[in-house]
Amino acid sequence: MSAVTLPTGYTPRPVTPADLSAFHAVMMAAGMDPRSSWSRVTPADLAASLFGPGAGGFVALAGEEVVGVVGYRPDGPRTLTLNKLATVPTARGLGLGAALVAAVEAHARAQGYGRVLLAVSRYNLDVLPFYAHLGYVRSDEPYAHAHPASPPPAVLVKDLT
Ligand SMILES: CC(C)(COP(=O)(O)OP(=O)(O)OC[C@H]1O[C@@H](n2cnc3c(N)ncnc32)[C@H](O)[C@@H]1OP(=O)(O)O)[C@@H](O)C(=O)NCCC(=O)NCCS
Repeated sequence: MSAVTLPTGYTPRPVTPADLSAFHAVMMAAGMDPRSSWSRVTPADLAASLFGPGAGGFVALAGEEVVGVVGYRPDGPRTLTLNKLATVPTARGLGLGAALVAAVEAHARAQGYGRVLLAVSRYNLDVLPFYAHLGYVRSDEPYAHAHPASPPPAVLVKDLT
């Protein structure tokens, strides 16, 4: 995969069922620790997560190629959970990860959610500074969508009010 070029003023677009296979491929190319439940997500699991009630996501494209992904699901009326954020290794450091998080936050605001919550796997704590940079803070509350076979994740929250 060669390095990608992005247009300026780039905005991710909402995910559609036609993006499912490309979305899954970006997740699997992200280089996550194989002990994380992330590496066992199947396309069917992904479809159930992205296209359930109140759920959705965004994809970032370079030309026709999907190079970044993120999903969201509600957890009650006040909280939108962000999940499955990934950019392909050749498109990192370009602002795509931050743009995908911002797209979920904008959607949350537009839908009247007061905050965005996400969970970071115990096997992926190196990513915590990325989220801190975007205004997320640690919380001791449980994660509603936690994988039962995984160690409890680190929960991060950003208040949008
Ligand atoms: C985390 C991830 C999505 C970041 O994507 P990205 O496209 O490189 O992020 P951006 O280019 O938008 O970076 C935004 C800022 O965060 C910083 N940053 C990016 N990754 C970082 C990290 N791991 N630790 C600390 N800072 C980081 C960037 O330097 C940038 O800072 P700047 O605004 O001062 O320039 C990407 O590294 C990835 O896909 N990782 C593997 C999957 C993963 O861990 N997903 C999270 C699951 S909880």
